[in-house]
Amino acid sequence: MKAVIPAAGLGTRFLPYTKAQPKEMLPVLDKPAIQYVVEEAVESGCREILIVTGRGKRAIEDHFDRNVELEDYLRRQDKLKELEQMLRVGNLANIMYVRQKEPLGLGHAVSCAEQYVGKEPFAVLLGDDICIDGDPCTKQLINVFEKRNATVLAVQEVPRNKISSYGIVTGSKIGENLYRVEDIIEKPSPDKVKSNLATIGRYVFTTGIFEKLKTAKPGIGGEIQLTDAVRGLLKGEEVLAVHFKGRRYDIGDKLSWLIANIELAAERPELKEALAAVLKDRTHRR
Ligand code: G1P
Repeated sequence: MKAVIPAAGLGTRFLPYTKAQPKEMLPVLDKPAIQYVVEEAVESGCREILIVTGRGKRAIEDHFDRNVELEDYLRRQDKLKELEQMLRVGNLANIMYVRQKEPLGLGHAVSCAEQYVGKEPFAVLLGDDICIDGDPCTKQLINVFEKRNATVLAVQEVPRNKISSYGIVTGSKIGENLYRVEDIIEKPSPDKVKSNLATIGRYVFTTGIFEKLKTAKPGIGGEIQLTDAVRGLLKGEEVLAVHFKGRRYDIGDKLSWLIANIELAAERPELKEALAAVLKDRTHRR
C-alpha cells in the first residue's frame, strides 16, 4: 500500500520557530518529527511514500536525501555508527514529493496525491502526529482494511476542552477496539457532539475519498477539510474507526511536543537516569 504524508501546514501554533522551518522538522530528541512518521509507514509495509510539501519545506527533502559530503566526512573520521545512521535515513523508503501550492486545507493537500495514488487504497499519516505502540498505528488500520475493505480511521479519546481541535467521530462499537462510524464533524463545539473520539491523523482510504474531495466545499476555517470528505463517504460506504491504544503526540502543539521529548528521553538508556535526576531536583526546589 502507498502512503501519503501531508506536511504542508504552516505551523501557526508554533511560531516563531515555524516562520522559516517546517514544523515537521521539529526535533523529537535527535530525530525530526517526520522521521518517526516515515518509519511508521515503512514498519506498516508502506515503502512507497508521497510527502505533500509546500513553500519553505525543503529541509524535509534534504533530510531524506543522501548527503554525500557528510558521509565522506564521517567515513574519514571513522565515525561508522553515525555513517550507518545517515545511510539508513537516506534509504528509508522510496519517497516522492509534490507541492501544495496554496494553503487550502488538509483535504486539498490529500487531493494533491490523486495522480500518485492511482486507483488503489492508500494510507494517510499526518506529518506532525507521532503515534507510538508495539504494533504501528497504520499497520493496525491496514489489518482492519484487509478484512473489511473499507475506509478506516484511527481515533482516541480526548478531554472535553480539546474536542474543538479535532475531527470528532460518533459511532457504534462493533468489536474490541472497532467502531462503525455514523458521523464525523471537524472541530465541533463540545456541546454539539455526544462523543469525545477524535481522529488522530492516521487513515486508510478507498479511492472514493478523491471524488468526495473534488466536490467538497470549504468548511471550518474556510479550508477544504478531509473530515468533510469522510462525512461524504459515509453516505455510500462503510467507514470504520480503530481505537488506538498507544501514545500519540501532536508535535504542532508546544506542550505535546515537550512531553514527547521528555517521555522518549525517559526510555533512552543513555539519558533516562540523568533526566530523572534533573526532574527530581527541579520538583524538590519548587
Ligand atoms: C487535522 C484534522 C483533524 C484531526 C487532526 C489530528 O487537524 O483536520 O480532523 O483530528 O488533524 O491531528 P489540524 O491538527 O491540522 O488542525
